[in-house]
Amino acid sequence: MCRSNGMTAHKKVCSKSLQAHLQQTPAQATLIKTRPANNFVMYTFILAESALETVPKELWGDASIAAEAKRLKRKPGELLLDSSRHLAAMRKLKDWHKRGRPDIAHFCALLALDSKLNQSGKLHLYVHTINDRVVKFDPGVRIPRVYNRFCGLMQDLFRRKHIEYEGKTLLELEDKTVGKLLKELPKKTLVIVLDASGEKTTLTKLSKKIKDKNVCFVLGGFPHGVFDSPELKKLPKASISDIELCAWTVLADAIAACEVADE
Ligand SMILES: C[S@@+](CC[C@H](N)C(=O)[O-])C[C@H]1O[C@@H](n2cnc3c(N)ncnc32)[C@H](O)[C@@H]1O
Repeated sequence: MCRSNGMTAHKKVCSKSLQAHLQQTPAQATLIKTRPANNFVMYTFILAESALETVPKELWGDASIAAEAKRLKRKPGELLLDSSRHLAAMRKLKDWHKRGRPDIAHFCALLALDSKLNQSGKLHLYVHTINDRVVKFDPGVRIPRVYNRFCGLMQDLFRRKHIEYEGKTLLELEDKTVGKLLKELPKKTLVIVLDASGEKTTLTKLSKKIKDKNVCFVLGGFPHGVFDSPELKKLPKASISDIELCAWTVLADAIAACEVADE
């Protein structure tokens, strides 16, 4: 297990390449130390129902997946489901069109964690998955830039449930619905679910609406389809464009709205 306050024990369980990727830069380390403690608004982002999961049991016996697992010396259930390699097998799955896109979570996590808002210490990022699991990102974590390495990291996280570096938990995985995650937000947090079918708004209006408030933006981390979680279905939705946008485009705009509100 990768759970220890001591670096020595940590080294026993985390590969060198993983450590190198998770290391904070000196600037990030300073940021974490100088992070304001209280009395400031928090901007939470939940990438909901994200297409990030390990290969489900129904597909373990699929010949192409079994061959891939053998080649990588992993169990089939330890591989991340990826439609770029597993599409033929995936078509047997319920909601297959919503699944197998870890790149969406990767791109969105890079965008959020590298943002000015995160550098100012005010951003919280959660990736909720299609199977009701939640990845919590420490704001100081430096995730791999390269997709394959990100997938390796997520595979480790799905196995170990947490990734630590120098005694600090940088990534945590919990079984949790998006509804439970929303309930854990600070009281009076304004929750805004972003959806193309929602009430039309603009970034200017949004930034005014959220000024001086704790806010949580929820957006879908899937390639096609709509929200299925009952807790999200019943919440009002806001739309920032007449057209369907990619999750990362919407995330970039929502972060920009927060940055304007925070000026
Ligand atoms: C690629 S979209 C989801 C799939 C999309 N319904 C489709 O079938 O292509 C990912 C997420 O981006 C957000 N989104 C996309 N377009 C949006 C818009 N015009 N306004 C607000 N949010 C939007 C929503 O949160 C959505 O779940």
